Amino acid sequence: MSHNSFGHLFRVTTWGESHGPAIGCVVDGTPPGTILSREMIQRFLDERRPGQSRYTTQRQEPDEVAILSGTMPGEREGELVATGTPIALEIRNVDQRSKDYSEIARRYRPGHADITYDMKYGVRDFRGGGRSSARETATRVAAGAIARQVVSGLLVRGALVRIGDMEIDRNRFDWDETRRNPFFCPDAQMAERWAELLDGVRKRGSSIGAVVEVEAVGVPAGLGAPLYGKLDADIAANLMSINAVKGVEIGDGFAAAALSGEENADEIRIGANGRPEFLSNHAGGILGGIATGQPVVARFAVKPTSSILTPRRSVDADGLEVDVMTKGRHDPCVGIRAVPIGEAMVACAIADHYLRHRGQTGRV
Ligand SMILES: Cc1cc2nc3c(=O)[nH]c(=O)nc-3n(C[C@H](O)[C@H](O)[C@H](O)COP(=O)(O)O)c2cc1C
Repeated sequence: MSHNSFGHLFRVTTWGESHGPAIGCVVDGTPPGTILSREMIQRFLDERRPGQSRYTTQRQEPDEVAILSGTMPGEREGELVATGTPIALEIRNVDQRSKDYSEIARRYRPGHADITYDMKYGVRDFRGGGRSSARETATRVAAGAIARQVVSGLLVRGALVRIGDMEIDRNRFDWDETRRNPFFCPDAQMAERWAELLDGVRKRGSSIGAVVEVEAVGVPAGLGAPLYGKLDADIAANLMSINAVKGVEIGDGFAAAALSGEENADEIRIGANGRPEFLSNHAGGILGGIATGQPVVARFAVKPTSSILTPRRSVDADGLEVDVMTKGRHDPCVGIRAVPIGEAMVACAIADHYLRHRGQTGRV
């Protein structure tokens, strides 16, 4: 199975399966001298970790990261300095329950990649979905923590803005609120309504979709390499590569189709500092594939978790028609845990473009 790497100058290669001994990644291209720490990487992993509330899977994974190469101790306690060589990160798998999956060893779970892995490779690790499992995304979160350190002044943050058909009220959008409820929800009132909604979904053994919004502030103007290395195209590809993501938009995205040219164009004036200033940000911080210096805004749609308790019609590897009910533990709304993953994938795209921009123009 090839194609396990993404990025050019900030390049991440991930490895490992859901039910193997460990998962991990190799981050190549971190500039020498970049300041890191194990605690800083762990902090982001802790946000994605399962089993933290009744609204996410009860799989218990401590997701403790070990840094195997590419750094040396810094001056301060716990500080690590990147040497510029590949940084290898490892996360041990501790909560593997293969027996939960024995019934579906030869059956294709609808909505999962079981059938396409068999079609393509003729061999499939059925234990927890193997490489197609979102367990792999923990390694991306660890790589994203390093990416954030590559671009000084970069802030990448994410929020869940919709579950099912219940969307947040933008007038109540408060980034601080995303850290106070189990949904990364920026609207305190909507978080309470989601709690009720998800309790019902969970009790029915069902699942529900969601929309995640990621904002990157402090992206230097000029990042992005048209025509075939556009910043928006690479962010979209990174987000689309996350399990269960079925749609990505930048800025106003699909809503832009309903706007007039007058409404959509971000007008420009000279700001107080004598530099051009945009009066709005419908473009989501990117024009012609190049960052404007405004916040970069991306949203992605996450489908409802495929593993549900209601039997679904399917077939098995012997060509027989069967009914499939997934008994393994699952997230009723995978969109929740997708928030830190989306942040990480945006951070990786920006770090990569930062280094590419510096390489091509000699400046940032
Ligand atoms: C954080 C996260 C956790 C997930 N957990 C589950 C899960 O418990 N059960 C499930 O059916 N799918 C889960 N998924 C989605 C599947 O991995 C995904 O739907 C499957 O690999 C098929 O790929 P696709 O939906 O991208 O086509 C999860 C996705 C994410 C992002």
